[in-house]
Amino acid sequence: MKPVISFRNVTKSYPLYGSFTSGIKNFLFHLPTAIKEARCGQFQALSDISFDIHSGETVGFIGSNGAGKSSILSLIAGVIQPTTGEIEVNGRVSPLLELGAGFHFELTGRDNILLNGVLLGLTKAQVLAKMDQIIDYSEIGQFIDQPIRSYSSGMLARLGFSVVAHLEPEILLLDEMLAVGDASFQKKCLRKMMEFREDNVTMVFVSHSMDDVLRICTRVLWIKDHAIFLDGSPGEVVSAYLSQNS
Ligand SMILES: Nc1ncnc2c1ncn2[C@@H]1O[C@H](COP(=O)(O)OP(=O)(O)OP(=O)(O)O)[C@@H](O)[C@H]1O
Ligand SMILES: [Mg+2]
Repeated sequence: MKPVISFRNVTKSYPLYGSFTSGIKNFLFHLPTAIKEARCGQFQALSDISFDIHSGETVGFIGSNGAGKSSILSLIAGVIQPTTGEIEVNGRVSPLLELGAGFHFELTGRDNILLNGVLLGLTKAQVLAKMDQIIDYSEIGQFIDQPIRSYSSGMLARLGFSVVAHLEPEILLLDEMLAVGDASFQKKCLRKMMEFREDNVTMVFVSHSMDDVLRICTRVLWIKDHAIFLDGSPGEVVSAYLSQNS
């Protein structure tokens, strides 16, 4: 069967910036040249990555800070483009990436639910029909009508996940969503993710919680030094990762 997500020899490089050795005034007066000079090289965040993800898999990406996990999710979501290599995604992607990504901080929680629901593929009428359910699910209470710049990180995560929980996703991308939620919300998210798993939703999940990875994932990829180090069953990959990082 055709994979839902396919990476072929994907490399992602970012420009590395140097310091303004000739001073800010010189930098501003000669902007185009100065920008060119300030870019003193390329940093390879992902190096020759290839993998296939099939329908209904729940794949966990683990690895140290800066290894390249979030970059992989952003590439799947199409938020960034690979430097070289090919990416194929067959299906509708619902990305829940960084905390607050896709949110507008001056708008209320309620308005952000609408904005996010539409960004994630629902029509305005569909979001409005589910609005009360989404608000109840988030347990944000009276703060739902406050601008979200006043929200705590846990409240932002609740808002984001509550929208996702009311979608019918095909491919769901979750980047460390559970990390900032409290125990009760984490439990609720895990339950919802298990439901998605039973409904055959393809999920790609980045987490530093090995317990969550073991509980949810059907397969785990360990990203080390910007490449795939190990790809296998959750038990095998997580225990290798823990034994190398203890
Ligand atoms: N926009 C960017 N510009 C330059 N470098 C970037 C950019 N985004 C990511 N990087 C670099 O790419 C590397 C991989 O970053 P990424 O965010 O994918 O790591 P991660 O595995 O998600 O880490 P963490 O566990 O800390 O979230 C890091 O070294 C980071 O500094
Ligand atoms: Mg990350």
